[in-house]
Amino acid sequence: MITFEGVTKRYPDGTVAVDTLDLEIPAGRITVLVGPSGCGKTTSLRMINRMVDATEGVVAVDGKNVREIDPPTLRRGIGYVIQQAGLFPHRTIVDNIATVPFLLGWDKKKARARSHELMERVGLDPKLAKRYPAQLSGGQQQRVGVARALAADPPIMLMDEPFSAVDPIVRASLQDEFLRLQNDLEKTIVFVTHDIDEAIKLGHKIAVFQVGGKLAQYATPEEILDAPADDFVRDFLGGERGIKRLRFFQELDAEEAAEQATEQAAEQRAAADRPEAGSTAAER
Ligand SMILES: Nc1ncnc2c1ncn2[C@@H]1O[C@H](COP(=O)(O)OP(=O)(O)OP(=O)(O)O)[C@@H](O)[C@H]1O
Ligand SMILES: [Mg+2]
Repeated sequence: MITFEGVTKRYPDGTVAVDTLDLEIPAGRITVLVGPSGCGKTTSLRMINRMVDATEGVVAVDGKNVREIDPPTLRRGIGYVIQQAGLFPHRTIVDNIATVPFLLGWDKKKARARSHELMERVGLDPKLAKRYPAQLSGGQQQRVGVARALAADPPIMLMDEPFSAVDPIVRASLQDEFLRLQNDLEKTIVFVTHDIDEAIKLGHKIAVFQVGGKLAQYATPEEILDAPADDFVRDFLGGERGIKRLRFFQELDAEEAAEQATEQAAEQRAAADRPEAGSTAAER
């Protein structure tokens, strides 16, 4: 779990980027920070891995104040993915993904093997391994960024608008694959976006920020759609709140229906395997 307790960040020029933030980010889930430009999303994210230090208050990971953990140790357990992937242009894809294992002193062969395994996991063609980032599409580069952050298997992933530089279709498929991956991995993910639809689709919980670094609402997507905390949240959800709500609940229904069908099928199989008392093989 990651907690913010009364956290304020004031930059040297006096800008208050984050204002007395209290937040409990659950382990093993995706928590989304959403809000308009300049509302302190990136600053909040970077206070977790100490790329930025809080001016006041405490950020803690698993109950430990991050200020008491030296940054390299802290960051070993935290993957970081940014917009445009931020890849090293002169390193091949396979070596970009192996960045952290190389830094940790893994054997080169083992690091590259891990890199190949991750390429497969994030849906990258193994043929791309020897290419350089500029020879990949935007969507492929984002996948490399995700694979690189996963390389040392950190329990926590910080993702800052990782899918925002690609077109809507590629973006939707990246989101879908990311959800599938997270289903297996169950990382503690803090995901930043300014897109409320992305927040609703990915978030287990959503923190809506407003300019000035104030938390407007922290709740599940259902709760936010059902009961926006104030006019700011209502406006941020936009005029299509009713439609978003409908779509969200339809998707939940579809998931539930699929789950029920799977359970029923399993029960039927079990029943078929169970010899009924008094029945003969011919009757079954
Ligand atoms: N190094 C800095 N020095 C001074 N002010 C800064 C610095 N970094 C960010 N800020 C200011 O702090 C506020 C929050 O910035 P931050 O980058 O956290 O916002 P954001 O929500 O991530 O925005 P965006 O959606 O545009 O990425 C903004 O007003 C920004 O100008
Ligand atoms: Mg930002």
